Amino acid sequence: MELKINIIGLGIMGKSVGRALLRNPLVKITACADLKSENLEEAKSELKFARSYNDYEKMIDTEKPDAVYIATPDWAHYKPVMACLDAGIHTHVEKPLTTDESEAADIVRKVKDTGLKLQVSYNHRWLAPYNATYNMIRAGQIGDCLMGYARKNNPIQVPTKMIPWSKNSSPMWFLSGHDIDLMTWWFDDDPVEAKGYGVKRVLKEKYGWDTYDAMQGLVKFSKGGFATFESTWIYPEPHPAMPDSFMEVVGEHGHIHLDRKTEAIEMSTPEGFKWPRSLLNYKVFDRWVGAFPSCINSFIDDIVEDREPVVSAYDGWRSTAVLDAIHRSADTGETVRISEPPI
Ligand SMILES: NC(=O)c1ccc[n+]([C@@H]2O[C@H](COP(=O)([O-])OP(=O)(O)OC[C@H]3O[C@@H](n4cnc5c(N)ncnc54)[C@H](O)[C@@H]3O)[C@@H](O)[C@H]2O)c1
Repeated sequence: MELKINIIGLGIMGKSVGRALLRNPLVKITACADLKSENLEEAKSELKFARSYNDYEKMIDTEKPDAVYIATPDWAHYKPVMACLDAGIHTHVEKPLTTDESEAADIVRKVKDTGLKLQVSYNHRWLAPYNATYNMIRAGQIGDCLMGYARKNNPIQVPTKMIPWSKNSSPMWFLSGHDIDLMTWWFDDDPVEAKGYGVKRVLKEKYGWDTYDAMQGLVKFSKGGFATFESTWIYPEPHPAMPDSFMEVVGEHGHIHLDRKTEAIEMSTPEGFKWPRSLLNYKVFDRWVGAFPSCINSFIDDIVEDREPVVSAYDGWRSTAVLDAIHRSADTGETVRISEPPI
């Protein structure tokens, strides 16, 4: 069995995940769509797809793929996801599912009605330390989760040089979804209330952008536990972490700390001091390993073996609902009740 795959959005993620799909014997990338023809041209020979489109609706209508991987900017996921589900296509979408809770809720209902498979790319669940944390908590080793803390901070070149659309997103939409997904998975509990804070100063003064420099959210869970999430993307350029990532869970009789900022490598050269990245996506000999390939390849297995995806549409909705509530709270100064589950 060979699944026909299309990719929508051939930027950094579209190309990275495409490279992992290329080595999966169960799939063939038949076509890709991007608004920018140069992105399609650049990737065509490497990803070995036959046809290119600027209009993804035309692509899925013509190509009739079995599954689509969507890697458009944060706020541009809803329309292609709905177009794929309406066309009966299994869908793997980048995080966050959407940047609007009600759109995410629509997607959850659509997935339920169609019976199609949808996975959100919260790929950190496939990183061994985070996965081990889940197993240790479920085995009762620290008791019920009472308190959590998560930080994901990036240097300023990420919003100013790497992501062309950062002014329409925020450090939390871009960075904290992974932490919220992990924390709710570990807590095994529903978040119910959020208080958010944010500051817009550096990017506003330097670039005129109306986006937050730094944010913090305190989230309460239904059984009384709580967790703090924070992110900034204005560390000075020489900072060697991308991102500076730390997570903590305190349980009834134990704690777990996960410090990922150095990715286990420290290096210095005449050009500077570095913590080179290798955990999310790294080519070991001829194969890509890490969280990106594990997540997409798991989704392909879900389709072939007719299993529920690890990160469901509901899980994607939950992180979006928390992020949406933190942003509304930061914007208004009010404590915000997290929306009720859509199903
Ligand atoms: N899961 C992860 O670990 C992870 C890591 C980084 C980024 N992301 C997410 O992946 C998504 C993409 O990020 P990126 O860094 O690859 O961005 P990018 O800007 O490099 O790529 C986005 C691409 O989408 C294209 N595009 C935009 N609108 C389109 C449309 N309507 N039809 C077709 N193509 C369209 C753009 O031309 C661009 O090539 C974001 O949501 C981001 O948050 C996830």
